[in-house]
Amino acid sequence: MTADAALRLEGVVRRFGATQILSGVDLSIATGERHALIGPNGAGKSTLFNVVGGALRPDAGTIWLDGADVTGRRPHVLARAGLGRSFQTTRVFARSTVLENLRCAVWCGLVAARRGYERGLAERMANWGRWWWRSREIDALAVRVLGELELEDVAYTAAGTLEYGAQRRLDLGIALASGARTLLLDEPTAGMNRDEAARTIEWLRGVSSGKTLLVIEHDMDAVFALADRVSVMVRGRIIATGTPAQIRADAYVREVYLGAGQGGEAS
Ligand SMILES: Nc1ncnc2c1ncn2[C@@H]1O[C@H](COP(=O)(O)OP(=O)(O)O)[C@@H](O)[C@H]1O
Ligand SMILES: [Mg+2]
Repeated sequence: MTADAALRLEGVVRRFGATQILSGVDLSIATGERHALIGPNGAGKSTLFNVVGGALRPDAGTIWLDGADVTGRRPHVLARAGLGRSFQTTRVFARSTVLENLRCAVWCGLVAARRGYERGLAERMANWGRWWWRSREIDALAVRVLGELELEDVAYTAAGTLEYGAQRRLDLGIALASGARTLLLDEPTAGMNRDEAARTIEWLRGVSSGKTLLVIEHDMDAVFALADRVSVMVRGRIIATGTPAQIRADAYVREVYLGAGQGGEAS
């Protein structure tokens, strides 16, 4: 059943000191699936992304990416294996222009796709030649993503000076431009107004086609517009997985999350 899973987690546990934040997370995401992860603030969603993305080691459990056991692998190794991520807070090269940020992401993706390093001087020279030749290809790709992000007007603006929504879009664009097949997106619409959020989700639908997405998202409208399936995390456990309609209709989910008046923003 899991032969075609892009991402699979089994029994993932993570503690901080004595506190268990992830208490045995099981999750299977098919290749090409768009999967939303929802749950109240503090449930452990971002921690799960840190564990899957290699920033944190799990204390127990196994993680498979495209069928390969990648448990405990470092982020750059996972990037090379086709995993990309965006963060809950935007991370761009603030002083570089928007286009430079994208060129850099495309370039990193190409390097990652090459797998492994050149051995001797001759090989290194040959590669430099190839890179020089490929710079046009890199430019073309970066410009295409720039267009998809609708950021052409600010191509030569320092990324750090963009308005918030545009910066968030650039952050997503960087994850996409890197060529990752599987993307972890932590609250891509965080801090956006409703209009901006809806536009971003619509855009994400288009540009992510053919990719596998795991998205942390608390806006149920966005979840409905984007996700094939939804998982609900409460206190470090997945308590339900299903289609958006199934999740919305699930009495238990309503009780512990959706309708429970968590008192505050569920993020
Ligand atoms: N590096 C850390 N050290 C200690 N506690 C942490 C750390 N990161 C997260 N936590 C705690 O783990 C819990 C889950 O946080 P988080 O994964 O950010 O939740 P969510 O993204 O679902 O809102 C919170 O109680 C948070 O304080
Ligand atoms: Mg979070």
